[in-house]
Amino acid sequence: MSKGKDYAKYFDFSQAKVISEDENGKKIRLSGREIYIMSEPNQRKEKQRGKQDIQVHYEEAVPETLRELGKGKRYIIYTFGCQMNEHDSETMSGLLEQMGYEKTEDRKEADIILLNTCAIRENAEDKVFGELGHLKTLKLERPGLILGVCGCMSQEENVVNRIMSKHQFVDIIFGTHNIHRLPFLVRDALFNKEMVVDVWSKEGDIIENLPKKRAGMRGWVNIMYGCDKFCTYCIVPYTRGKERSRLPEDVIAEVRELARQGYKEITLLGQNVNAYGKDFADRTYTFGHLMDEIRTINLPRIRFTTSHPRDFDDHLIEVLAKQGNLVEHIHLPVQSGSSEVLKKMSRKYTREHYIQLVHKIKAAIPNVSLTTDIIVGFPGETDEHFEETMSLMREVEFEQAFTFIYSPREGTPAAQMEDNVPMEVKKERLHRLNALMKDFSRKGNEKLLGETVEVLVESESKNNELVLSGRTRTNRLVHFTGSKELIGQFVHVQVTDIKSFYIKGELVTEKMQMSS
Ligand code: 5AD
Ligand code: SF4
Repeated sequence: MSKGKDYAKYFDFSQAKVISEDENGKKIRLSGREIYIMSEPNQRKEKQRGKQDIQVHYEEAVPETLRELGKGKRYIIYTFGCQMNEHDSETMSGLLEQMGYEKTEDRKEADIILLNTCAIRENAEDKVFGELGHLKTLKLERPGLILGVCGCMSQEENVVNRIMSKHQFVDIIFGTHNIHRLPFLVRDALFNKEMVVDVWSKEGDIIENLPKKRAGMRGWVNIMYGCDKFCTYCIVPYTRGKERSRLPEDVIAEVRELARQGYKEITLLGQNVNAYGKDFADRTYTFGHLMDEIRTINLPRIRFTTSHPRDFDDHLIEVLAKQGNLVEHIHLPVQSGSSEVLKKMSRKYTREHYIQLVHKIKAAIPNVSLTTDIIVGFPGETDEHFEETMSLMREVEFEQAFTFIYSPREGTPAAQMEDNVPMEVKKERLHRLNALMKDFSRKGNEKLLGETVEVLVESESKNNELVLSGRTRTNRLVHFTGSKELIGQFVHVQVTDIKSFYIKGELVTEKMQMSS
């Protein structure tokens, strides 16, 4: 059973006293703490998919009146989870900086700290509650500090209830659909003493023109939000709402602007990028069309994540095969190698369909690198089912896989299924899968021994500042010795040694001129 279910006990509504109500929400008192609730998450509503059209808004996000509010003050955002969250944090940074706040790395001098949270597995949630525990001490020392919790966990009723009753030192809770409201929520928290809760249970419209504070020469660009797939184990369709695509002209304008600013690599983001355009009234413009337009922009590397095998159509493969700045790396989560398990997961494809798709992709793009996500220990997964996952790994020859033990998420259909696989078995399966993956990753690296690869230099390596680290077009990690000025540039590196999860090499050329 999901541990989450127990959280209901934290919140006894009979104890909550409504003090006042106005057109924006209600103020309650709970164990001495006043809480202003503008809106609350509701998983039942999050599940519904309405028919209403999505409007696009282009207004300024931070009004003049709030632009001085953060002057002389500092902020930190701690981000948990996926690239979508990382990118949302860039938007929050952009909003806070337009309010005058400056970024700091030192939490002791921060005036506002936000936790942008992830709900995908229980251990992600445990980390956030652990961090909140640490921040409590800081808040006790400096009561003026504003603490906010946002992101996917905020979209869960049990989490919001738990924070309202057990972590009352938190000042703001907001969700994934109303990030643009951050400046107003910060204002409310600064001028009123109560905790402010504003979590929309339904996705809103698309808000364009939000300021974004990107770092480095690699940028993320959202092409769509939400997910309608409802895989039975997954919380994302509830926390991120229904699929909404940004208009092609808005996406293209943003990519062009990043190209103009000298960005070297962009990653197009969506929970299910292959569903791009399905929500447009005339359904003729798809992800393939978008990629075909974007590839004409003079920007050296274009990636995308994450794709769903079900919607990966032939036109998209045709476009990706044109390569150029479209890199030959596709992340294609399979989740399981067993058609029976895939059915219970409601993935809407079979093992055979997945393998057929892989063959098509490999035929069109012979140098393609495929990576994947796999869940082990899904309810009802037998040894035979798991062996099918192992054999699929061998058959496809993935170059990397992100592997997870199934974690029940409250409110999802799989959480109701009997979880009959003992934890030791799940751990053992994960261990075997990872060992196999390590072999494949090493084999993939071995093929590159002696070759010269194009590397976009990202940073100094974590463990040795004399060593630089970067990535190939296929996203392989490369370490080599070079001067710091190369960070953000393309170089050629000859592969001299290989490890399981990275490559060592020697610099062949200094900076390369790239054109796409
Ligand atoms: N338990 C374990 N892994 C999960 N994922 C999504 N939901 C769960 C869950 N409940 C994994 C999937 C997905 C990746 C982002 O996280 O493999 O592709
Ligand atoms: Fe979750 Fe499935 Fe949507 Fe991916 S496609 S976000 S796994 S529901």
